[in-house]
Amino acid sequence: PATLRTLAAVRGIKIGSAVNITALATDDRYRDTLHQQFDSVTAENAMKWSRLETAGDDAYDWSAADYLVETAESFGQKIRGHTLAWHNSNPTWTSNLSAAERDAAMLEHVRTTVSRYAGRVDVWDVVNEPISDKDDARLRDYWTDLGGEDAIVRVFETARAADPTARLYLNDYNVEHAGAKSDAYYALAARLKSRGLLDGVGFQTHLTTRVNEATGFRAVLQRFADLGVEVAVTELDVRVPMAPTAEDKIKQRLLFRRATNACLAVSRCVSVTVWGFTDSYSWANADDDPEYGNATLYDTAIEAKGTYWAVYRAL
Ligand code: XIL
Repeated sequence: PATLRTLAAVRGIKIGSAVNITALATDDRYRDTLHQQFDSVTAENAMKWSRLETAGDDAYDWSAADYLVETAESFGQKIRGHTLAWHNSNPTWTSNLSAAERDAAMLEHVRTTVSRYAGRVDVWDVVNEPISDKDDARLRDYWTDLGGEDAIVRVFETARAADPTARLYLNDYNVEHAGAKSDAYYALAARLKSRGLLDGVGFQTHLTTRVNEATGFRAVLQRFADLGVEVAVTELDVRVPMAPTAEDKIKQRLLFRRATNACLAVSRCVSVTVWGFTDSYSWANADDDPEYGNATLYDTAIEAKGTYWAVYRAL
């Protein structure tokens, strides 16, 4: 029978999921479903700097990241590396550093990590969530403290040198609809592209039935694609009330379908990745909003939900 990955292959895009390494190692149903349904994987956490170099002093623990890479290769899956520089995933030891020391440590981590997986990681989310949510939609303070856009450029240059074959991406959220944040993201992408450093732009696409309509997403993807870069849906999930009405469930399926269709409608859109495929390991069921969750394609028993069939039919 057709699966998401066989259908996506016919449409010429990749279908991916974020992966929980513990589940991959211990839950056979999780492992089999990941293998059968997806042809791309992203480490949900295992490639973040805080996980790789927890203690500092160049003491890297590659075990979880290596396990994911080896498993993905045996499953015939591409790997989206996530993420090299994110204000939320710095090891705690970096908080004692000066800005100059932090910048140097970050670049050393980028060099070490990208070269380790050179030729094996297809795409890197090089800089994650650079744009502030404040009204001014400028770079986050994390980047301003390191010297602003020049610091972002240095990270991209370092990644480029460490693996010239990897495709280098920006990645952010709340940029899927037109507005100040999306405009700031676009301006940054345009400048990185003109320097020859940017290959793609990621749209996390964390949606909720509470607010998002996901109309206009296709036009935003096209706008970025017209810069001459790839675009991708990188972290798709759609939160729904834990006690959903029939209408909530319809809206959740509609949002999955719209996001998938937006990618399919834009020729430079290369992949749709969901941020976990089952509610049993999803961050949306583990965060500080207990009333919303169940944001994935499969229930906690790893049975396909209506959302799975919405994506399936869109493909
Ligand atoms: C999240 C993971 O899902 C959680 O398990 C972790 O505690 C925090 O990070 N945007 C991103 C992802 O780019 O890396 C985040 O992943 C979700 C939001």
